[in-house]
This record gives sequence, structure tokens and C-alpha cells, in this order.
Amino acid sequence: MKKGLIFALISLLILELKSQTLIKQPYQPSPKALEFVQNLIQKMTLEEKIGQMTLFTSDWDVTGPTIRANYQADIQAGKVGSIFNAHTAEYTRKLQKIAVEQTRLKIPLLFGYDVIHGHKTIFPSPLAESCTWDMALIEKNAHYSAKEAAASGLHWIFNPMVDVARDPRWGRVSEGSGEDTYLGSLIAQAKVKGYQGSNLQDPFTILACVKHFAAYGAAQAGRDYHTVDMSERVLRETYLPPYKAAIDAGCFSVMTSFNEYDGVPASGNAFLLQKILRQEWNFKGLVVTDYTSMNEMVAHGIVADEKAAGELALNAGVDLDMQGAVYYNYLKKSLAEGKITERQINEAVKNVLLAKYELGLFTDPYRYSDAAREKATIFAPEIMNHARIAAQKSIVLLKNEPFRGRKILPLAKNIQKVALIGPLANNQEDMLGNWRAAGDISKAVTILQGIKEALGSNAEVKYAKGCDFKGNDTQGFEEAIALAKNAEVVILAMGENQAQSGEAASRSDLGLPGVQQQLVEAIYKLGKPTVILLSNGRPLTISWLAENAPAILETWHLGTMAGKAIADVLFGDYNPSGKLTMTFPRSVGQIPIFYNPKNTGRPFNAQDKYTSKYLDISNEPLFPFGFGLSYTDFSYQNMKLNKNQLKANDEIGVSIEVKNIGNLAGEEIVQLYVQDLVGSVTRPIKELKGFQKILLQAGETKTVSFKLKTQDLAFYTQDMSFKPEAGKFKVMIGTHSNSTQDLILELVD
Ligand code: GLC
Repeated sequence: MKKGLIFALISLLILELKSQTLIKQPYQPSPKALEFVQNLIQKMTLEEKIGQMTLFTSDWDVTGPTIRANYQADIQAGKVGSIFNAHTAEYTRKLQKIAVEQTRLKIPLLFGYDVIHGHKTIFPSPLAESCTWDMALIEKNAHYSAKEAAASGLHWIFNPMVDVARDPRWGRVSEGSGEDTYLGSLIAQAKVKGYQGSNLQDPFTILACVKHFAAYGAAQAGRDYHTVDMSERVLRETYLPPYKAAIDAGCFSVMTSFNEYDGVPASGNAFLLQKILRQEWNFKGLVVTDYTSMNEMVAHGIVADEKAAGELALNAGVDLDMQGAVYYNYLKKSLAEGKITERQINEAVKNVLLAKYELGLFTDPYRYSDAAREKATIFAPEIMNHARIAAQKSIVLLKNEPFRGRKILPLAKNIQKVALIGPLANNQEDMLGNWRAAGDISKAVTILQGIKEALGSNAEVKYAKGCDFKGNDTQGFEEAIALAKNAEVVILAMGENQAQSGEAASRSDLGLPGVQQQLVEAIYKLGKPTVILLSNGRPLTISWLAENAPAILETWHLGTMAGKAIADVLFGDYNPSGKLTMTFPRSVGQIPIFYNPKNTGRPFNAQDKYTSKYLDISNEPLFPFGFGLSYTDFSYQNMKLNKNQLKANDEIGVSIEVKNIGNLAGEEIVQLYVQDLVGSVTRPIKELKGFQKILLQAGETKTVSFKLKTQDLAFYTQDMSFKPEAGKFKVMIGTHSNSTQDLILELVD
């Protein structure tokens, strides 16, 4: 093999392994930056300071309940220092001009936006991209998102959303990285690195904002904005690490969540914002509320009015008020009454001005608002090509069993008659998923287009919508059934539209919406080779499909290049490698269900009535965390430990041989789990501690090795100190969380 290729492969391997260790490079303002902003603060009036603590939306987009019309007048009056939901080089330049030419101190505006999975080119939804388990790819997705956003005049994006979530009724699981703390932490880090790069002065990098701090994903009953109630131990062990990983990676800002923690809404919660964020984590960046979450503390019942909400928020450490106009309306009075101090105001203004300083906006306020650069960057071929690769790798093969003696997938490219049916089949808008922000729907490649392109003019590909996403209209069934009758292969594109997951989109029933299930069953009765394509924002309860359909591809909402990527996988141009990062329940009744609960004192035993179970359904999920098939198969053997005992500050090697026993090359995500068998508090039955994505040619075997450090076994012990405890540990390796081989190691004092 040529030297250059070896070097490339080694550097890729190093990049991949490096990307699986958490770095510690939190944001630290330089003395020069601090000096600059402190000097500026000394020149500012109280009104100008309060203006810098205010963030308003433009009227270009609506991402919350209220909208203000006169934000341009507010800019001119120095009453607002940051604007969100405004983009393009032209429009940001127009608004920036008002701030830097018509205000007294000419302080530039900061432009923020929800770039959640791409800006104009849309990548797979975050839950989808998490199923790649590929940190380098996820970092690249973020890098390209930042490039397009920065070229469109944006300085700051409200991402990564890192809320660990174990309840698929909650629509915002689509915006996150699933149920696991360790994987979610690595993904949080990858996204911050992709957005902020290594130098914020680079005009193609932007400030990141980790959200929603904290534990928003644990909303009771999966109902958005609902109460969060958990122990401090669960908060620290399960929910906080991904936020910390983002901050340790240098994330510049934090967004407070709508929910309360321990009875206090996050936007006024000093335990979260002072004790944990500022004191324990030494966070030096900016804290912004979520959309009017400050005002909402009145509805929470923690304050009597908005003025008191502002005082609670500033005393807790909120720097910037998103859309609430609470600081705008009441802070001057609160100061006069001695409820808050000038020092607190100066501290908040400092953090806002540091954002603008770090981006170089005081040097050149228009550096992000360059129309020529925007035109050259948006939809660049390298970005579009990468979007297709990201989409391919996000697809999870859930089932591919023989139908009349042979597996249906991958489909042969010489098939002549294809019937493509379903509300997602010829649909651009929903391919982009929710939170597609400025995504260009007209650029989205539909599944129909993708399949037609892949098969060329020789094949006849016919489409029928069949039904809609809601309601009970079955009039479209007849046309769809007729099409299917005349086809060699039937492809059913079913799932959720983009509004059926995401914010304010909780669902109590997680089946296929509307009459899609009836349509699937009607088509299935025809006995044709049938492939199910699922496009959904969250895990669904698809037990009938899992039981009856021979082939199921989980394609989520894959973004601009969805149709091409789905065709690539359907016809075997890419062998699917994705693995689920969120458990699929059999029934809503099992929720919350995730791969690593506690064992309990009466773990399920089929022979014993008095054990933890349901009368009417199995405890087991439909598809477990870490699950995903390939068009080839893999065997695992010869698991080994390089020793049986671990000491303090030590590490142990664990390895296993993985063989591709099929006849196609394929990628496999080898997963490492550990169980602490006895602890001073009860411990989960397993925890993900490592993974490696490997490519194996047909027949090839690789030995996959992991290093397990003593500190990897640490947890919040009975007295809440974070450390490992001596004792036995079960080390597990496998293809998913429910299929592992295991060995025992002992940690000795
Ligand atoms: C929304 C979301 C938050 C988003 C913000 C600005 O309500 O909760 O994720 O960044 O408002 O649009």
C-alpha cells in the first residue's frame, strides 16, 4: 500500500480514536478581549447596557409565541444588541448598518439563528445523524452548516441541542442524540468543534450555543414544556455530561431551558447557572434564555410578575433575554430599587460584548455579510456531496428477511416495474424534517426522484400517495393498490411529516399517523415483495411492521439529499451501517424504556410471577439501542482481557475478533458496555463506554481493541463523590446493547 494512503488511513484512525476522547478546552477570554470590553462598558449608559442584554427576533421567521414589529427602531435606539431569525448577507448588512452608523457607540449587532442540521443545505435530522456513531462525520456536518450560516451573515447558532431523552412521545427527541449520556457527550463535542473550529476569527466559523440547560429531555409524560423532576444524582450522572462536554469543547454560550429543575425554572435557577455552570464548570461564556422563558417564570408560579422574573434571572446569572423584553422593560427600575446591582449588569454586558469581540465584529462588523461570498458558498458541490454521504450513513436497516426464499434488499437495478406508494414518497418538504430553518425545500431530492435516477429510463417507476399524514380518508387506497398489483416490487414510504415531531409536537400514540397502517396492510395482502421506508422524527411503535414486513429501512428525515441516499441504500450502492441511538418501544405503555435501566430487586424471571414485568407485553423493546443490520453479516469471537485486575489510575485492554461472514463489504459499529455489579448505590445494568466503527471486506477479520481506564468506571457514589469503587465489573462487547459477549474484571484498591 502506498505510503500516502497508509498515512491517510492512520491519520483517519487517529482522528476517529481522538474523537472518542473528551477534550478539555473551555472558552477563556484573553486579557486583551477583557480589556477591550471593560473599556467599552465604562463608556456605556445604563440604557445602552440593558440594550446589549436584549435579544429580539426579526419578523423573518417565527420560532415562538410572540413577535415584535419595531425591532429596527429598537436597534436604532440602542435598545437591542442582538437579533435572531434574520439572515442573508444583504439583510444582516442592512440591519448592521443601522447599529454601527446610527447609534452612539456603534456597537455591532450579533445575529443568531436555529441552524440545527444545516442552513440552506439540510443534513439529516440530529437523531438521524447520531445513528452514524461517526464523530468525524458529525463534526463535518457541523462545519458545513457553519460555513453556509456564516456566509449568510450569521454569527451564532442555537445548537447543539444535547438533551438526553428517553421518552419518544416528546417530539424534540428528533433534535437530539438519543438516550445515551456517553454517546451524547461525544456528539456534543463534535458539533461544537465543527461549528466553532479552531479559531473564531475565521469568518467561516460561528459561535455555538449548547441547549437546553438543563434536562429538558426529561419532561414528564413526554409532554413538551412539562415539569422535570429527578434526583441530583440522576441529573449529574445522566443528563449533565453532554452539556459539560460541549462547554469543555469551548462552546461559547448556553441556553436555559423552559423546564424547572428541583422546583425552580432553569432561567432563574442559581443551582444550575451559578453552582454548576459558573463555579464547578468554570464557564466564562454567555448565558441566554430560551424564547420568553424568563417571562414564563410568572406562569411557573415562582415569581408574581415579569419585573421579579428579571430580578430572579439576573441574580441567577442570565446575561441575555431572548424575546421577552423583561430586561428591556424593568431592569432600570429593579436597579433603582436595589433588587439587582450595576456589577451584575456589567458582568452580563461583558459576556455579550465578548461574543462580538471574539467574532471580530468590532474590527469589521460586516465581515459575515458578504453577498459574493454567500453566493459562492451556499449549495457548494462539496457541501451537497457531503450531505448525501451523511444521509447514507444515517440510515438504519431494521429488517431484511427472506421473502419467498431470498432477501429483498438490496434491490437489483434491472427491475422493470416499481410501485412507490405513501405520503413521503414524492415529498420535498418533509424530507427536510423539523427545524430546517432556511433550508431550501426546492433543492430537496424526493424518494421518487432518487429511485428514478438510480434505475434510469429502462424501469417504470409509478407513484401514488395513497393517503395523507392525518385523518381517515382512504380514497387513495384504490389507486395505490392497483399500482402495486402491476409492480414487481412495492416500496412504501411511510412515517411522520416534519411537523409531527420537533418542538410542541408531543404524541401520545406512536403508531404510523393517520390511516397509513391500514394502507400498508392493504398493500401487504397482495403478496408482493414489499420494502418499508420509514421517514419519522422519533422512534415509532411499529410492531405490526416488525412482525410482518420482510424489509424495513429507518430513513428518518435525511435532508436535502434524502432521495439520492435512500436510493443508494435501496440498490446497494451503499451498505447501510447506522445503529439506533434511541430504543424503539413495542408500546407506549413501556415508556420510559431505554437500554440501561437498574436491575431492581425483582428482575424479570419468566418462571416467577412476582418479578418486574407486564401482564400484557414483554419488557423487551421492539428494537434496542445500538441495533442496526447490514447487507452482510458479522461474527464476534475470542473476546479477551489483557489482565483480570485493574488498580487505581490503571487501564485494561479488552479485545474481540470481528469477522465479515457475508459476501459484501460492510461497516460495523462494535460496542463496549460495562456493568458495575455492586456499588454503594444501585447501578445500571450496563453503560456504553466505547465503540469503534470498522469497515470489513467480505471474509475479512479484524481484532477490535479498547482501552478501559479505571476512571471510566467512576460514578456518583453514595456520598455523591465522583469516583470508581473496588469490586467486580462485567465487560461486554457486541453488535448492539442486547447482544454481547462478556468477561469479568476486578477493580482492586
Ligand atoms: C425555541 C426553542 C429553542 C430555539 C429558540 C429560538 O422555542 O426552544 O430551541 O433555539 O426558541 O428559536
